[in-house]
Amino acid sequence: MLRRLHPDQPESFAFTPANQAWAEAQISKYPEGRQASAIIPLLWRAQEQHGWLTRPAIEHVAEMLDMAYIRALEVATFYFMFQLQPVGSVAHVQVCGTTSCMICGAEDLIAVCREKIAPRAHQLSEDGRFSWEEVECLGACANAPMAQIGKDYYEDLTAESFSGLLDALARGEVPVPGPQNVRYSCEPISGLTSLETYDSGHTKYNASVQRAVDLGDTVKRIDGTEVPLLTPWLGKSDGAPAKAAPAEAAPAAAAAREAPEAPAEVAQTRPASLDAPRDTGADDLKMIKGVGPKLEALLHDLGFYHFDQIAAWTSQEVAWVDENLEGFKGRVSRDDWVAQAKLLASGQETEFSKRAKY
Ligand code: FES
Repeated sequence: MLRRLHPDQPESFAFTPANQAWAEAQISKYPEGRQASAIIPLLWRAQEQHGWLTRPAIEHVAEMLDMAYIRALEVATFYFMFQLQPVGSVAHVQVCGTTSCMICGAEDLIAVCREKIAPRAHQLSEDGRFSWEEVECLGACANAPMAQIGKDYYEDLTAESFSGLLDALARGEVPVPGPQNVRYSCEPISGLTSLETYDSGHTKYNASVQRAVDLGDTVKRIDGTEVPLLTPWLGKSDGAPAKAAPAEAAPAAAAAREAPEAPAEVAQTRPASLDAPRDTGADDLKMIKGVGPKLEALLHDLGFYHFDQIAAWTSQEVAWVDENLEGFKGRVSRDDWVAQAKLLASGQETEFSKRAKY
């Protein structure tokens, strides 16, 4: 399936304050220079907040992680869990169409989707409240056929029970997830043949369903307020005794982690800078491996626009720039920008610049 950005995109994207704090806390899990590792949780959170993954959201996440936009787009288009087009405002229904479910009636469920939601997968219903798609095995094969709606599984479905679920959701109800026949979990429908005296713990539903019922709303969008924001790793990286960061202090703690450290011993000299790019226009500094949109803007703020400027930096000048890239200290020497810039300034390509152009 061809996965492209949707033609209609919103103007902008911003995390809610709670989701922003959550995202910053996720980034702080990774060592300096490895923030890009947080790409999937951040994209997922953006999707949870908005319902689908918009271009501004992908770019916003890329900027937070100092990644080239194309790198974030590669991740967003690779994983099918990311929805690149609008989904139903009430629910996006994912029907499993793999072997067990197909044998047990998935095609009947898909027929219900075509009739009640929209003729084609990823198409919004006329009222914009529902959408659907067929997905690969969701790991509930013993309860086939099944569908994921919102965050929960609805199992042991028939066309009738599935149709009733969609009607209930349309009325604003949140049906109890789990098996939709008489089964408690995935035991034989004719009754237990082993572990007959097993005590399930006396919950009304099986553990997954009970948890979903306790939480209350399977199709509610995550807004960052659901669980306490815990960041016990903050304050542990410098060898000092661990200090537990209070939940609400996470953004401040994350910022403190990026605060400048004590001046390095290496002598530092500020390189010559320009007030503006030359008449030929600024070079695309993102062709240097390690420079993303955010770092390029930072370099411009410091008066560096051209490959030949960077190519001419001495070790003292590298030390100064390394120290003054707020939030990205050490990047110049880590990725050897000077060697890269020398090649690019002379009209040659680096391995990275060759790939980055395509
Ligand atoms: S085949 Fe449908 S959940 Fe595995």
